[in-house]
Amino acid sequence: MTTRANELTALVTGATAGLGAEFARQLAEAGHHLVLVARGEERLKEKAEEFERDFSISAEVLAADLTTDVGVSLVANRLRDAARPVDVLVNNAGIGLLKSFEQNELEEEKRHLRLHVQTPMELCHAALEVMLARGKGRIINVASVAAFANRGTYSAAKAWQVTFSRWANIAYGKLGVQVTAVCPGFTHTEFHDRMGMDKSVAPRFLWLTAERVVREGLADNAEGKAVSIPTRRYKVVGFFARILPAKLTSGPPRRPLQP
Ligand SMILES: NC(=O)c1ccc[n+]([C@@H]2O[C@H](COP(=O)([O-])OP(=O)(O)OC[C@H]3O[C@@H](n4cnc5c(N)ncnc54)[C@H](OP(=O)(O)O)[C@@H]3O)[C@@H](O)[C@H]2O)c1
Repeated sequence: MTTRANELTALVTGATAGLGAEFARQLAEAGHHLVLVARGEERLKEKAEEFERDFSISAEVLAADLTTDVGVSLVANRLRDAARPVDVLVNNAGIGLLKSFEQNELEEEKRHLRLHVQTPMELCHAALEVMLARGKGRIINVASVAAFANRGTYSAAKAWQVTFSRWANIAYGKLGVQVTAVCPGFTHTEFHDRMGMDKSVAPRFLWLTAERVVREGLADNAEGKAVSIPTRRYKVVGFFARILPAKLTSGPPRRPLQP
């Protein structure tokens, strides 16, 4: 993929489904060339073809498992390539774990922590190398409104993304790089099906579309906001999650789908 000086490129992790696919779609619609990252190569190629056809942009695919050193290095090296600069990084790939901390295998918890914390940290570090040298760039870390509550290691990992983004937006915003933690509530994607969670635990009015979350997230990032909580109803949820006692924001546990 070759890009001309006035063209923009966005790299999106977890771009084959849900929020990542929607970030890629809206960025392509706005004229960005794409670098799409996920594990499933076939699905990546299908998405790349779809976006190239629909939006007349070029889309590159990087098949990478972002819980591994090899996968993260592949993507970090692409971000460090100053000859093909990435203007927008969306750290979005993520998973949920259905069971509680002590019931999960330690290896599962390590992969979960890596994907939500270490990997975005490494990819931000790589992206900033080129973005700061160019004096411009945009970074979106897809966190969760759970970052403001106390729901196991998922909340803890997402809280890292929020705190990091708040600081990074102050440190790098004045140098031309806007950093935003996008904090969705329950959103219709593949996320809950993949973890085998019963989606009826959340009432229907709490479910958001990926289109809305991404549209508000991109707009807040363009305005230089450090934290984006899409929709008014979840801004209220986020507010109360921050002020209520921890024991009121720590449950109920996720419920598995009944066979
Ligand atoms: N949906 C919600 O209600 C919700 C709410 C708040 C926050 N979030 C956050 O939003 C982000 C996106 O989630 P989603 O709801 O869009 O989930 P999703 O529909 O399940 O999509 C997840 C994406 O991440 C990729 N992925 C998963 N593990 C990966 C790995 N090890 N390496 C590389 N790519 C990987 C998947 O592709 P492959 O399987 O091919 O790798 C897929 O493209 C996550 O960070 C999640 O925590 C979601």
